[in-house]
Amino acid sequence: MAILSLQNVSKEYASDGQSVRALDGVTLDVAEGEFVALVGRSGCGKSTLLHLAGAMDFPTSGAVLIEGKPTSDLNDAQQTQLRREKIGFVFQSFQLLHTLTVQENVELPLLLAGSMGARELAQERLHWVELDGLGARYPHQLSGGQMQRVAIARALAHSPRILLADEPTGNLDTTTGSVILELLLRLTRERQTATIMATHSPEAASVCNTLVKLRDGHVEEVTRR
Ligand SMILES: Nc1ncnc2c1ncn2[C@@H]1O[C@H](COP(=O)(O)OP(=O)(O)OP(=O)(O)O)[C@@H](O)[C@H]1O
Ligand SMILES: [Mg+2]
Repeated sequence: MAILSLQNVSKEYASDGQSVRALDGVTLDVAEGEFVALVGRSGCGKSTLLHLAGAMDFPTSGAVLIEGKPTSDLNDAQQTQLRREKIGFVFQSFQLLHTLTVQENVELPLLLAGSMGARELAQERLHWVELDGLGARYPHQLSGGQMQRVAIARALAHSPRILLADEPTGNLDTTTGSVILELLLRLTRERQTATIMATHSPEAASVCNTLVKLRDGHVEEVTRR
């Protein structure tokens, strides 16, 4: 069974009294362990799709199912719980909290979810992304690639089944971007997450299992390797 399923999903935004159709009848299934690259021109709906897949926003019509359950059927508390338990999100701009150490950044989602042993779990996640020993540093004491690795460790803190990444290599040089990409590939395989990554990088797109091309809010092409 697909862990994540979009069924004829459309999303409209109201903007200046006008309606913008960001997604238009998107149907897509993603399985555990599958790494999907989401590509297409600026404005084609990539970020919108990721927000819907992560239950951070909801479709205007159609359904987004996580483990078979429509996200729109959940109340606010259930949606928050779903996000905390099942979803990890990685942003282009890392979005680390600058007043917290690396270790504390990774611990935070665990503390919010009331997990036991947050400290040890965070250390283990930092090991996954090969940042052992850097837990006491602050984000400004890290390179861009290291910051993104902390953000990935944080996204994986609670062992989410679904990992969503919005242009995670967009602010990095090519070499550092390749390192981050390799890391996401390895973690997807090892942790069996369903990973969707929006990207403008052809190199990144070429190493994924599945390539989904969006155009003006609809799926133009799906290539599975
Ligand atoms: N909150 C919003 N309110 C109104 N319109 C929005 C909103 N968010 C996105 N849009 C519009 O929806 C469309 C899809 O936007 P989206 O951010 O999903 O594109 P994208 O593929 O991620 O682009 P990029 O590659 O530039 O990040 C665009 O036309 C955008 O202007
Ligand atoms: Mg975007």
